[in-house]
Amino acid sequence: MTHPMTTTAVTPPLLSAEGLRVTFPGRHGEPPARAVDGVDLDIRPGEIVALVGESGCGKTTLARALLGLVPPTAGRITFDGAPLGRSARALRAYRKRAQLILQDPSGSLNPRHTVYDAVAEGLRIHGHGGDERAAVAEALARAGLRPPERFFLRYPHELSGGQRQRVVIAGALVLGPELVVADEPVASLDASVRGEILALLLRLRTELGLSALVVTHDLGLAWNIADRVAVMYLGRIVETGEVEQVLTAPRHPYTRALLSVLPEATGAPVVLTGEPPDPSRIPSGCRFHARCQILASGEAERAGVADACRTRDLEILDGAATSQVACHWASARADAATTEASGAR
Ligand SMILES: Nc1ncnc2c1ncn2[C@@H]1O[C@H](COP(=O)(O)OP(=O)(O)OP(=O)(O)O)[C@@H](O)[C@H]1O
Ligand code: SF4
Ligand SMILES: [Mg+2]
Repeated sequence: MTHPMTTTAVTPPLLSAEGLRVTFPGRHGEPPARAVDGVDLDIRPGEIVALVGESGCGKTTLARALLGLVPPTAGRITFDGAPLGRSARALRAYRKRAQLILQDPSGSLNPRHTVYDAVAEGLRIHGHGGDERAAVAEALARAGLRPPERFFLRYPHELSGGQRQRVVIAGALVLGPELVVADEPVASLDASVRGEILALLLRLRTELGLSALVVTHDLGLAWNIADRVAVMYLGRIVETGEVEQVLTAPRHPYTRALLSVLPEATGAPVVLTGEPPDPSRIPSGCRFHARCQILASGEAERAGVADACRTRDLEILDGAATSQVACHWASARADAATTEASGAR
């Protein structure tokens, strides 16, 4: 049996994606790039989910598709129980409730806009009827820029990197979203400021009940902030679970390889061999098979799954399940453990 192991959670999700695909047309005779290639993912109210995976695996494309910023090629997204509409009006209404937080030096702040204007921009776009000044001040204060009035007339170049990132966060908070999607929110910040920004995101979850998807290629960061981790490889989620479980007892060979190169890892680092992943050329069978250390070392052969690894694709993991893995070998091991346990009884 190679079914994924599942534990279905009972809380209804705030955001739910099913069978999501985003394919970019190929250029210069290249085949199309299947950047997101069948993803189911749920984010529950007040939950922080970390989406991790190496560069180019499709994290940003998935995040943007979840926010309606990239049209999916297939699949559906549900927010607060209702399917996400595709009309400009429906997307506008959605963007008030689900906000993107970009990494600051990627140009998310206009150098010619004051902090006040940067934060007020969303309110103006969405036609905020109330007291703009009070709303901007509250968002800045929530983002930890206090007293907020002191920052109103400053320009981005007059702020530290951490303060700029807080302005970006205030700009997202000002509309009172229920979900934020933060794409590499601290990648460019030094270690101490990183910690402060992560603490801020955690505080916002407690104070405002915010849900968050935090996109990162850094598993250490996921450890510090997330409730749950989704590990992405070449357009698919290959393992999901509670952060503690995935990071202390990873089941997918790819997750194991990612963890083995963290500074705090104790065992030998697993160097991934084979071609770097290319969404225009997704291998058949398990999409990780050409780089898998379990297959290369003969462990998959000993477990009797080597042929499946090379030829049999894995099911899309169920977004509603809290603990799952898409790996023939991991499933075979789990089945063997279950048989052993029932035999011992
Ligand atoms: N607009 C586009 N047109 C064509 N291909 C694209 C486009 N946007 C992304 N891609 C391709 O889709 C794949 C996934 O890209 P994406 O930016 O989602 O990865 P990522 O996981 O966010 O990477 P990183 O960690 O480097 O930010 C890459 O191969 C990329 O080249
Ligand atoms: S299915 Fe096979 S090739 Fe893929 S990760 Fe698991 S052991 Fe490796
Ligand atoms: Mg990215």
